Amino acid sequence: MQKASGSRNPKVSGLPIGIFDSGLGGLTVVRAVRRLMPSERIIYLGDTARVPYGTKSPATVVRFAHEDMQFLMRHRVKAVVVACNTVSAWALEELVKTYNLPVFGVIVPGAMAAAAATQTGRIGVIGTSATIRSQAYERIIHSANPSAIVHARACPLLVPLVEEGWVKRDVTQQVIADYIRPLLQKRIDTLVLGCTHYPLLAPVIRIVAGRNVRLIDSAQSCAGYVKAELRQLGLLNASRSRGWIQLNVTDEVERFAEVAKRFLGQPAGKVRRVDLSEV
Ligand code: DGL
Repeated sequence: MQKASGSRNPKVSGLPIGIFDSGLGGLTVVRAVRRLMPSERIIYLGDTARVPYGTKSPATVVRFAHEDMQFLMRHRVKAVVVACNTVSAWALEELVKTYNLPVFGVIVPGAMAAAAATQTGRIGVIGTSATIRSQAYERIIHSANPSAIVHARACPLLVPLVEEGWVKRDVTQQVIADYIRPLLQKRIDTLVLGCTHYPLLAPVIRIVAGRNVRLIDSAQSCAGYVKAELRQLGLLNASRSRGWIQLNVTDEVERFAEVAKRFLGQPAGKVRRVDLSEV
């Protein structure tokens, strides 16, 4: 399940949307949400002190996810977007059951977009070790397209490269080529970027994969999905004025603020350092 029905009170629609990730990758979702829903207010949490989640055990990912949710709940958000594939893979169902508001993940929209995009039925998925181990993409793609053949590959080196800002280095292209070559040899026509950090690498992935492979950006698919769901729940912000973003991280703010500004294409405003153990 990707959502739970929360309050349908229209007064709630002016409240912010909470978005969280283990680090800066979730900014790809923030950017996509801003583009599609410019009047929405966004409270973002990047758990930069504990990134990466993708190498952790499922139990640890679930525990961290609850702490992230509780932070956002304290800020009175109307809905939460889990902008992390790893958390979406391992914790989403539990979050949906636990919290009384709509909670959306990134995997269903990305998987559905891939199932719709493929012409040959051969789909590649790349993600963190935890996401790939969960087989969540396979399950959802197969539910939409039972004859699809999914080739999945964990790419654990990519998140550290993105967090380091090495998105254009030759070494990064080399690593990407090593990871996705086996998928290309299987003649995939669609490749799911099954990690919210990977859209930052999309230009390099595009060079390596070539023009004939359709790239599915789970952040973009997610934003479209969230918009449709919020509309259906009567929770879209109807205001004509532009919304805002409040960025929170659990570790140093300086480097995050710099990357966020470059990435979001607008001043990130004040980035706050927060302690998730504080109530
Ligand atoms: N944002 C995470 C994801 O989409 C990747 C970073 C991490 O491993 O925590 O899976």
